[in-house]
Amino acid sequence: MTQTVRAIRIEEFGGPEKMKLVEVPVGEPGPGEVRIRHHACGLNFIDVYQRTGLYANPLPLQLGMEGAGVIEAVGDGVTHLKAGDRAAYASNPPGAYSEARVMPAKCVVKLPADIAFDTAAGMMLKGLTAQYLLKKTLPQGGLQPGDHVLFHAAAGGVGLLACQWAKALGLKLIGTAGSDAKCDLALAHGAAHCINYQRENFTQRVKEITGGQGVKVVYDSIGKDTFEGSLDCLRPFGLLASFGNASGPVPPFAIGQLGPKGSLHITRATLFTHIATRESTQAMAEDLFAVVQSGAVKVRIDQRYALADVAQAHRDLEARKTTGSSVLVP
Ligand SMILES: NC(=O)c1ccc[n+]([C@@H]2O[C@H](COP(=O)([O-])OP(=O)(O)OC[C@H]3O[C@@H](n4cnc5c(N)ncnc54)[C@H](OP(=O)(O)O)[C@@H]3O)[C@@H](O)[C@H]2O)c1
Repeated sequence: MTQTVRAIRIEEFGGPEKMKLVEVPVGEPGPGEVRIRHHACGLNFIDVYQRTGLYANPLPLQLGMEGAGVIEAVGDGVTHLKAGDRAAYASNPPGAYSEARVMPAKCVVKLPADIAFDTAAGMMLKGLTAQYLLKKTLPQGGLQPGDHVLFHAAAGGVGLLACQWAKALGLKLIGTAGSDAKCDLALAHGAAHCINYQRENFTQRVKEITGGQGVKVVYDSIGKDTFEGSLDCLRPFGLLASFGNASGPVPPFAIGQLGPKGSLHITRATLFTHIATRESTQAMAEDLFAVVQSGAVKVRIDQRYALADVAQAHRDLEARKTTGSSVLVP
């Protein structure tokens, strides 16, 4: 049986105004698929990259990479979910900005009863990202309690989760943020230090905080504006984990500069490599659920928008007006 649901779609790449609320058909799940009815959908910076075409997908494109709700139907071969289960996901392909959708089951996990739908929609993509960064994207020799790490945009969606999780791991997270109020928020969520990089030179401040040594790893989702400065925050053999482009993509660079700066390492990391299989998705989600259920990591939903107001949500995110997580309510 095919039903019609409301969804947000773009016909061409561009600004927030390109997103249109449309009615789309949703059918029965095929083999390996589920149909999920969303109670909340997550807002992520990757949605902006997909809307503008920085990350190109075929058009027309239904946006959204994160959601939580109730499974309505499962296709052949799906054994870990059944109709009526509470569930959540962060995944490709896009399509979460909708009342309901059909999608691959391997990306979807059962949601524990004590985690609310909006909390889940605010933490799956961002929390799984904090998980693989802090636990699997590590400098040579790993990280030990007491180590400093630098984490840009510390008051944002991924950032506030990372501040708390890093503290739980015993790490001293040095955050950066675009205002003093955002710095206060990062500090209140476990950052050991926070640098307002709108008015302070973060490279200099990191050197001061670490007694001239620099950090073993920088987690950089800002891209163009911070790339060079981030490299200069690293100690010898340090790792630059580039994982986003909020200010624009990192331009091509000369690999030779990594030698004199101290035999540095660089990776361009993405969540989708880490959640490529059902097993890895499940294991990472369980780790995330456990740290949230323990109370060590709290998910702040600082902005809520109706699905129809998605353009305003994108404007706020791009204008750096948001903190913590944002959800869209279908
Ligand atoms: N590779 C991955 O696996 C992966 C997964 C999830 C997220 N990400 C990346 O992680 C970053 C955070 O994602 P999020 O969804 O949680 O977003 P967010 O951090 O809530 O929002 C982005 C933040 O980036 C900062 N920023 C700095 N320069 C900016 C500029 N020119 N324009 C806009 N924002 C700027 C702003 O904070 P300040 O005002 O404090 O600077 C802004 O609030 C994004 O770059 C995203 O693409 C990557």
